[in-house]
Amino acid sequence: MLEQIEVLMREHIESIGDSRSLELYEKVPKGKRLRAKLILKIAGETKESIELASVVELIHAASLLHDDVIDEADTRRGVTSINHAFGNMTAIMLGDILYSKGFTKLTYLPNEVARSVADAVTKLSVGELLDVELANAFNTNQDIYFDMIYKKTASLIEASAFSAASLAGKDTSKYALYGRNLGLAFQVIDDVLDITSSSKVLGKPALNDFREGKTTLPYLYMYEKLNEDDKTKLLSYFRKDLSEDQSNWIKAKFDETGAVAKSIKYAQKLGYEALEAIKDENLPDLEKIIKEMIVRDF
Ligand code: FPP
Ligand code: MG
Repeated sequence: MLEQIEVLMREHIESIGDSRSLELYEKVPKGKRLRAKLILKIAGETKESIELASVVELIHAASLLHDDVIDEADTRRGVTSINHAFGNMTAIMLGDILYSKGFTKLTYLPNEVARSVADAVTKLSVGELLDVELANAFNTNQDIYFDMIYKKTASLIEASAFSAASLAGKDTSKYALYGRNLGLAFQVIDDVLDITSSSKVLGKPALNDFREGKTTLPYLYMYEKLNEDDKTKLLSYFRKDLSEDQSNWIKAKFDETGAVAKSIKYAQKLGYEALEAIKDENLPDLEKIIKEMIVRDF
């Protein structure tokens, strides 16, 4: 079924009638298509749900093209990123093409669905802006971190679940809550993996977030537990290219303070809250999606 979504996404780009757009699109790494899976599990496999899944995945792919420009990422999912291979301008414009084609297709879906996805894209963009600006200084405020990851990541997953429920005539608020918590858990795990996964598995350097100025949940939990000297030391490493010794010091502090384990626990708690929201809906596959999103190494 996911194959059908790949075909549809390609058809959407092909229908633009521009061979360069299609050529570049085919070089975009495919990804896990978790949002598409989520939509099909909630709404079942209908013409509309497959259309919605293809639209959401086009928009998501567009957002990552832009994100890689912003983050100056050389790789995405272990392969050369579009910005690295073809330059920032090409990556931005390809993102705009995917994004606007997605929006055209969105207009064919019911109003409630179109509005929800369109609103989520505004949130995504506000979230990304917050993420960029937060990197200017070491953030120690957990509420700000959660607001940012809600907007940057959870909002589109929330809108996917809401929209799929809407298409299927199910309780939209329950599914929206499921999607929101799932999205938050997903980003927390993403932030943990930046610390625990090897650069080879991740396709980007380890501890990359901190080098970029992103003080993610494990850093926030660690910071609370450090003594004044260690806090000063950690702050002095912020946004720097770290030596192996410095990276190892940070990793040792993660172990000592239990900050990574605490972050994983928190993601699991969000996962349980997501399941709690839809416990009466009798959809065991949604539990599998939670596990897939939370228990993963990339
Ligand atoms: C990845 O964050 C980024 C996002 C989930 C959202 C990016 C959103 C935008 C650029 C704005 C929306 C734009 C369009 C065209 C729809 P990350 O850098 O933490 O994750 P990573 O490790 O996957 O790079
Ligand atoms: Mg990024």
